[in-house]
Amino acid sequence: MNKLTVKDVPVTGKRVLVRVDFNVPLDEATGALMDDTRIRASLPTINYLTSQAARVILCSHLGRPKGKVVEKLRLGIVGQRLSQLLGQPVAVATDCVGAGVEKAVAELGAGEVLLLENVRFHPEEEANDDSFARALSRLADIYVNDAFGASHRAHASIVGITKYLPSVAGLLVVKEVQTLEGILYRPSRPFAALLGGAKISDKVAMMENIADKVDLLLIGGGMAAIFLKARSHEIGRSLVELDMLSTAGGLMAKMAGNSARLMLPVDVLVAEETSRARATAVPVDSIPQNSRIVDIGPQTIEAFSRELKKCHTVFWNGPMGIYEAGFAEGTRSMANLLAGLKANTIIGGGSTAEVVAQIKLSDKMSFVSTGGGASLRFLSGQTLPGIEALLSRRVPSSAVK
Ligand code: 3PG
Repeated sequence: MNKLTVKDVPVTGKRVLVRVDFNVPLDEATGALMDDTRIRASLPTINYLTSQAARVILCSHLGRPKGKVVEKLRLGIVGQRLSQLLGQPVAVATDCVGAGVEKAVAELGAGEVLLLENVRFHPEEEANDDSFARALSRLADIYVNDAFGASHRAHASIVGITKYLPSVAGLLVVKEVQTLEGILYRPSRPFAALLGGAKISDKVAMMENIADKVDLLLIGGGMAAIFLKARSHEIGRSLVELDMLSTAGGLMAKMAGNSARLMLPVDVLVAEETSRARATAVPVDSIPQNSRIVDIGPQTIEAFSRELKKCHTVFWNGPMGIYEAGFAEGTRSMANLLAGLKANTIIGGGSTAEVVAQIKLSDKMSFVSTGGGASLRFLSGQTLPGIEALLSRRVPSSAVK
């Protein structure tokens, strides 16, 4: 990665504002923290900074409060968990800018940690407002972006602030970028991408970009339906984005034109009602008119497994069925299979990472990205504004690719 990192700048005694992505899932009813993966992922940078006696100021969003204070989206619960994980107190400020926060920062000792309140309580954050970015920057001497999962957002605490402070990458951002660059440019082959999820429109840019990089593209989940339709299969009442039909056809033509193979399901589970976890397996050429696809079928699981076992790199993004409605067999099977492979297994963030965490297999994968939209955008070959805005390393022009 051609960016300076937190290890390239002197931080001892300095006030360091670290943008983290503590956008963690909370229980709807109780507000309890459901998964602390993103908090844990920020520990290497925070521990490094405290070990260097920096004054650490953490800034994050949580949810989408739309520029207003939403009580259940306060970061207190995150501060508690972070404090347990760090083994030291974490003060939580009442806001993220203003005199009270400036006072709390002034009182922060070397090696201490302060968590600012949800930055999205201010509408200026998402508007990338310049004076808001400047107010945030007044809290610190150095800015570190460690919020890989939010780096595709051109917001004040991600992009605007970099105009006012020396800005470098955190250790999580470095790891994410190096891992994703590794699979894009230096994958150990054979390299397979296993893609699922409901909508093709979310993933089409990424699929276009990786189509000539993978050896094998396996497609399951709701979005398999549009590929099946493009191959003239009846898909019953399966939900498809019809305006994407020619895109799916174009992608298949592109795959056919290079050496990569595309695998679609050979059988699927279908159900009349998605709320009832009752489904039957049918070959893809016998999908009943009154049913819709809810998962990949057993023969597909077998066929996908057979191929994936031969691969040295597997990137997985998107559940194989409607996991949240109980059609989870395909997704679970793929998760278990990947967990047992000796290959380099990279899991895209968002819902795939959540499923893998729920099944308690995250530790068995080579890498689980903390970014949903950010990792998709990165793998689409597009730049992330939050990373672009950081200071670049000076490299001899001959070394730039
Ligand atoms: C995420 O959860 O993907 C990131 O935290 C970004 O959140 P956002 O989609 O609300 O900007």
